[in-house]
Amino acid sequence: MAGRYKSDLKWSDVTPKGDYMNRRQLMAGAGALALGSIAGPAMASLGAKKTSYGRGLELNSFEDITSYNNFYEFGTGKDDPARNARGLTTDPWSIQVDGLVDRPGNYDLGDLTKGITLEERIYRFRCVEAWSMVVPWVGFELADLLARVGVQPSAKYVAFETLVRPEEMVGQRRPTLDWPYREGLTISEAMHPLTIMATGLYDEPMPNQNGAPIRLVVPWKYGFKSIKSIVRITLADKRPPISWQMANGREYGFFSNVNPTVDHPRWSQATERRIGGGLFAKRVPTLMFNGYEKEVAGLYAGMDLTVNF
Ligand code: MTE
Repeated sequence: MAGRYKSDLKWSDVTPKGDYMNRRQLMAGAGALALGSIAGPAMASLGAKKTSYGRGLELNSFEDITSYNNFYEFGTGKDDPARNARGLTTDPWSIQVDGLVDRPGNYDLGDLTKGITLEERIYRFRCVEAWSMVVPWVGFELADLLARVGVQPSAKYVAFETLVRPEEMVGQRRPTLDWPYREGLTISEAMHPLTIMATGLYDEPMPNQNGAPIRLVVPWKYGFKSIKSIVRITLADKRPPISWQMANGREYGFFSNVNPTVDHPRWSQATERRIGGGLFAKRVPTLMFNGYEKEVAGLYAGMDLTVNF
C-alpha cells in the first residue's frame, strides 16, 4: 500500500509490496528471499531525523522515484538513468567551492558535511513537464553548508554545476545540453529553509539515478532547478547562466517557480499527472509555488511573475 506515511517506517514498509519484493529480490538474488524476511534488516539506513515537513502527504513508492527520472547525462529516456547510472563512481567525491566566499576550496564531501544532522523532508516535486511525485528526501539546509564556507556580503547568486565524466555518463557523449549541467539561485532562495542539499531518499543513500551523492532540492520550483550530482558551487554577484535557459530561453526562465497561471509555451501548467496513479488517473490541480506559497511568496513580492518566469 502506498498509503499515509508513518515517520517511523522504512521505505520497505510503505512501498507497495510488489515493488518492494522486486527490489529485495534484485538485491538478494532472485529466489533467495523468503516471505518471512520482509521484516528483517533494512538497507543501509541513514537514520535521518524525522521532521514534520510534508506529514500527511501520500508518498510515491521507492520504485516510482527511482525508475522514472530525468538525468540527461545518462540519456533522455525516463528509464535511461536507472539503467545507465549504475556504474557512476560517487566515492570519492569532492565539491569545488569558489567565488565570493571566505573559505574557498576543493572539499571532500565527507569533510564538507561532517557533523551536519541529516533530516527527512517530505516534499512535493513538480517537473516542468507536468508530472509530479512526493518524495521523502534526506538532507540538510543549503544555508548550513553556505555558512560553513562563509558567504561574502557582495554575493547575490549561487551557481551549481554537475559532474562531467563522459566515460561514466553516456549521455554526455552527445551535445544534448551544453555540459556541464548548470543551475542557479538568488542568495535569498538559496538561504531559504526549504532549500536543501539532499544526500538520500527513503532514509537510504541517494540512488545514482536521483543525483548521487548530493543534489539540490528546491520544492517550490520546477524540477529542473534541482540539479543533481553537484561538483561545484560558486558564489557570484551576477546571475549565472543555467542549462535550460541556455538551451531555450523562450521556454525556460531563471526563476521557474511552479505557477499554474503561467503556461509553458507548448502546454498548460494548470494541472499535473501524479506518477504512480496509473494511466487513467485524474490529473490534479497544480498549486501556486507547488503548495509552498505561504513560505516563499515573500521572496517575489512586487515581481511580475509572468515576466520573471
Ligand atoms: N540534474 C542534472 N545534472 N541533469 C539533469 O538532466 N534533470 C532535472 C533535475 N536535475 C537533470 C538534473 C529535471 S528536468 C528534473 S524533473 C529532475 O532533476 C528529476 O529528478 P528525479 O529524477 O530525481 O525525479
